[in-house]
Order: sequence, then C-alpha cells, then structure tokens
Amino acid sequence: MKNVLVTGGAGFVGSHVVDELAKRKLNVRVLDNLVGGNQNARGFAKQVEFIKGDCCSRQDCKKAVKGIDTVFHLAAHAAEGQSVFIPEFNAQTNLIGSIVMLSEAINAGVENFAFTSSIAAYGSQEKMPIAETAPLTPDDPYAITKKTFEDYLHVYHELSGIKPYIVRFFNVYGERQRMDDPYRGVVPIFINKCLKGERPIIFGDGLQKRAFTYISDVVEPICNIIGKKELVDNPVNIGTEEVHTVKELAEMVIEKMGSDLEIEYIDKRTSDVKIAYCDTGKAKKLFGYEARVSLEKGLDKTIEWAKKMGAQEFRYMPFTEIPKLTQKTYTSKKI
Ligand code: UD1
Repeated sequence: MKNVLVTGGAGFVGSHVVDELAKRKLNVRVLDNLVGGNQNARGFAKQVEFIKGDCCSRQDCKKAVKGIDTVFHLAAHAAEGQSVFIPEFNAQTNLIGSIVMLSEAINAGVENFAFTSSIAAYGSQEKMPIAETAPLTPDDPYAITKKTFEDYLHVYHELSGIKPYIVRFFNVYGERQRMDDPYRGVVPIFINKCLKGERPIIFGDGLQKRAFTYISDVVEPICNIIGKKELVDNPVNIGTEEVHTVKELAEMVIEKMGSDLEIEYIDKRTSDVKIAYCDTGKAKKLFGYEARVSLEKGLDKTIEWAKKMGAQEFRYMPFTEIPKLTQKTYTSKKI
C-alpha cells in the first residue's frame, strides 16, 4: 500500500482515515463532493491531494483512481432510518456510486478495495451478539445497499482478482461528526440539543441498544487490515463490545453537559432496529482487535470538541420521495 484514495475523505470517518494514512507517510488522495465536511478538508496535511467530485460520476472516479493501489471507499449517505423515505437518493449515492467507483478501480488495476459496510446489513437478528456468520437480512434501503455492495465486491473479486476488505462498522461517533444533521447520529444530535438548551428527543422507549464506538477504535483497524490475506473477501465486524441503551446515552450526555434538561419521548421511528451489537471475536482472532475507548471517555473527548464548535442550526432535508409514508419524526422540524 503506497498510493491510496479515500472516497468520502472529507466526511466524518473519512477525514480521520485520511489523517491516519497521511501520518503513515502514504501518498493520499481524496475524492469528495463536499456535501458535508468542508471544514475537515481544510485541515488535511500538505501531502494530501484533494479532488472535488462525485462517485456517481464515471469521469471523476476515473481521474481519482489513476495511479492508485488501494481504495478506501467511505463515501456514503449514512442515514439508516431516513433511507426508508429516500430510497432513490440512497440507492444512487450508496450503491450506484459504489459500483461506478469499483468498476473504475478495476479498470485502473487497483489492488485493494476497502469498504465500510455496516452491522445494519444484518437487520433484526434473534441471536445477540451478531457474528459474521449470521445471514444478512437488511430491514431498510440503507442496509440493502450495504449488503448488495458486499455481494458486488464478492463477485468482482472472483472476476477480476481485486481484493476486497469489508469492515462492518457499528454506531461510530466522535469529533467531526456532523452536529447539524437532525436525521442521523444520535450522539452528536443529543450533544447539539444540549448546547442549544433544547430537550433531547428519544424515539420510542429509549431501550433500543447500540454499541457506540469511538472513532479511533475503527480508524486504526481499517488502515491496518490491508494486505492481510485472511481478510480478503472475508467481512469482519469492527466496534466495541460495550453496549448501552439510547436512554442511558441521553442521561450520560445530559450529565456531562452539566445540563438539567429532561428527555422528551416521542413515537418510535419506522424500521428502527431494536438491538444492534456484534461479536468481535473474529477481529480479535485475526488481528488482535480490541476497542480501547469507553463511552465515558469517548463522550468526554467528543463533548470537548463540540463545545469548541458551539451549537449548530439543524439543517433539514428539503425533500422526501414518499410523502405518503413519511413519519412526523422526519418531517416536523422538531428534532
Ligand atoms: C447507525 C449509523 C449507521 C450504521 C448503523 C449500524 C450513524 C449516523 N448511523 O444507524 O451508519 O450503519 O448505526 O447499526 O451513526 N435516536 C433518538 N433520538 C434522536 C436520534 C436518534 O432516539 O434524536 C435513536 C434512533 O431512533 C436509534 C438510535 O437513536 O434507535 C441510534 O440512531 P442513529 O445514531 O441515527 O444510528 P442508527 O440508526 O443506529
């Protein structure tokens, strides 16, 4: 691995991956459409080359993969619950964009193709924690595109020899995650609500469980696995084994922010998975993976950063593709 491309490199996870790869003295190029992440792109090291462009554009992808040996494909609109109401936008961004990037990577002779899949691809499962051997039964369009692109990678590995490295991330949070997006990322949403002096809202009873994983606990492993033979075309769960309810998270954020706001409970969101956490035994066995940052510590760091950023206005998406189905929790500007 020498010449690397990070798609979505100006985004939350992407920008941290860029920093880590730059630290390792690799030649890093970024392809990003700057829908979010302007600020992150401004902070890149000097050796990072930036291309403003879109994975859905064949021309942009062609330009971006030239001379590259390893692609980290992170460009995506990571909005699981919201994807139900924007299936076309979701498929364009998350699936078509990925297919265009993959085909141009193959055309350019790229050797390694890392893809950030998600535990969302498992959908609702009976058995917890979820191991990689569980069948993928996605419950929403976002999860469908993650699963489907994994299938594409498998097929094109067989056809072309390109080496896919598929990591299934859990709920990742930390510095640089967007605080102005009201639809995704419960951690920054709760922090931003407290900064604004508004009550955090919980969808449903708050007993839904997640393995909130601090950013550094996913960035290092994805950079480390390239070249590991046993991980080629062999998806692996990456995230913490520490599991919390959304209610516990809200209480922790409120306390850490020194706030006396009370939680507000409203209707559960359509297709919200109740429990989502995974077995990380495979990552442990294959490359000694261990998440190191507790939610307590990770929240402290994230809150410190968020306070510096200050409260943000939420930016609402101007459209839904299926108004007939869209729930109030997505259309009201309450969040
Ligand atoms: C998240 C990831 C997704 C990943 C998936 C894996 C983000 C932005 N999305 O989706 O990329 O594939 O995990 O499972 O990290 N909630 C509230 N109040 C709010 C906002 C959210 O109660 O104001 C609840 C949601 O209903 C949900 C939970 O918090 O039950 C987590 O929501 P969110 O952080 O958006 O992530 P997921 O939907 O789990």
